[in-house]
Amino acid sequence: MIKRNKVNWKIPKGAELTELDKKVLYFQNKGHLVPTRELIKTPEQIEGIRRAGLLNTAVLDKVAENIKEGMSTAEIDKIVYDYTTSHGGIPACLGYEGFPKSVCTSINEVVCHGIPSEEEILEEGDIINVDCTTIVDGYYADASRMFIIGKTTPEKEKLVQVARECMDIGAEAAQPFGFVGDIGHAVEKHAKKNGFSVVRDLCGHGVGLEFHEEPDVLHYGRKGTGMLLVPGMVFTIEPMINMGTWEVFIDEEDGWTVVTEDELPSAQWEHTYVMTDNGLEILTY
Ligand code: MF3
Ligand code: CO
Ligand code: CO
Repeated sequence: MIKRNKVNWKIPKGAELTELDKKVLYFQNKGHLVPTRELIKTPEQIEGIRRAGLLNTAVLDKVAENIKEGMSTAEIDKIVYDYTTSHGGIPACLGYEGFPKSVCTSINEVVCHGIPSEEEILEEGDIINVDCTTIVDGYYADASRMFIIGKTTPEKEKLVQVARECMDIGAEAAQPFGFVGDIGHAVEKHAKKNGFSVVRDLCGHGVGLEFHEEPDVLHYGRKGTGMLLVPGMVFTIEPMINMGTWEVFIDEEDGWTVVTEDELPSAQWEHTYVMTDNGLEILTY
């Protein structure tokens, strides 16, 4: 059976085809999944997301200045909430599908969606992901960084480094009129080459007018598959790279915290990007 993708790119009746229409229709007619028009942001929308990105980066910089051994993850949450709200932003995580805090803090074997807590104290050697999403004037930007508390093991240091490279290499693989699968292919290849695995249950995503939009940006896969990448699309790349198995489970007690099955460490970095005529541009610098 031939799998037909949805006809996402529609031409209004009687409309003259633009160069962009012709290009996208070429891929759609070959059976590729293409974006809907709504996923192509206007210059004005991109500027809005860029403003959200600027504040989101300032929030993460504030965390970077203050993060240290002996502090609780609840203190990180307070920094994020106070800085964001006092600069005209809204922390997108707070209340999102019932998430109770303003930021995700994920230590060592926690892959993502860790909930900040008074009881959780940063210790020497911990690696922690701080994942922050900010809303400004209704626009969303989403990014995360790893922090190493004091000195850690060479293995954990390498994991943090390779996860960062996976994000950057994935971003370089994304070209206008390439495909989302090109990103996943590049990420997976680099992780495997370094003896690490890629989490498959969570992915990057379109972002900007909402927290999570289409497309899903998988961090594994085959070149030339998935949605066509068209200038104006805004999405995240956020690979979660594990030292051991790629398999994960969700903590039953809180319903959020994602943990590696073998309880070996995991690392993640994330940026929000816009596709341009010459490749991706980071909106969360
Ligand atoms: N920031 C996460 C992402 O990268 C999503 C966190 S949702 C929350 O997509 F509810 F856990 F905050
Ligand atoms: Co995020
Ligand atoms: Co994200």
